[in-house]
Amino acid sequence: MARVSSGYGDFHSHLVPGVDDGARTLDDSLDAIGRMTDAGVRRIVTTPHLRASRIRDSGTLAIMDRQWKTVKTAASERYPELEFRRGFEIKLDVPTPDLSDPRLRLGGTQFVLVEWPMFQVPPRTPEVLAKLREAGCVPIVAHPERYDGVDPELEVVRAWKDAGAYLQCNYGSLVGQYGASVAYVARRMLASGLLDYLSSDFHGRPGYRFYLEPGVSEVRGLGGDEQATLLAKTNPTRLFQGLPPLPVPRLDVAKPLVRQMRTWFRA
Ligand SMILES: [Fe+2]
Repeated sequence: MARVSSGYGDFHSHLVPGVDDGARTLDDSLDAIGRMTDAGVRRIVTTPHLRASRIRDSGTLAIMDRQWKTVKTAASERYPELEFRRGFEIKLDVPTPDLSDPRLRLGGTQFVLVEWPMFQVPPRTPEVLAKLREAGCVPIVAHPERYDGVDPELEVVRAWKDAGAYLQCNYGSLVGQYGASVAYVARRMLASGLLDYLSSDFHGRPGYRFYLEPGVSEVRGLGGDEQATLLAKTNPTRLFQGLPPLPVPRLDVAKPLVRQMRTWFRA
């Protein structure tokens, strides 16, 4: 039985104003944080986009630091109960990224959130992840369900896990935010017990939907109460503590459909 944690944790969002395609202003940021806390999120690591090829550009990081300080100060005043930290969503656009700067990690932990460029799986991805592990980082691959090039048997995804990476699925992926094929892959990963975390990837600006509640409801509706708690609460909370995720059991996503069909035949 999963250990129950109070409140949701979320470590993938774009809430630092004016640095990426997320929040544009401080008001956007604070409104977005309000929407997240209203949904029960109690700890956030927000993750502006950053290309690995730009990490050595001190100007880029200086702007990120300054804008982060602004939103962190304002959020601490308006939401004093919220645990609010920063990381980055790092696009691995160079073959040997140097992620040794502690600012690149998720909220002071050893975890780093990474994505592949252009929503494609480039060659030799397991080797890249293994090298990050050797360098002392623990990579978490953002939204694995969204990449072209993930094979039907999910072998490349299994290879990422074998290399020591963890997997973070977006809530919205489970309910069609990115289309039916992404939802299908996300469900297959859930069914296979490959996912470690759910997070929002919330681009905090007006008109951008926050999918936590529909995503959690979807997993629970598939009979996955234990999985929902592990993916959305327990494991993100453990990340804040610098601890690895607990294993998430496979979920037989066909079961509810079979149950439904039985009721049709009985009717
Ligand atoms: Fe993102």
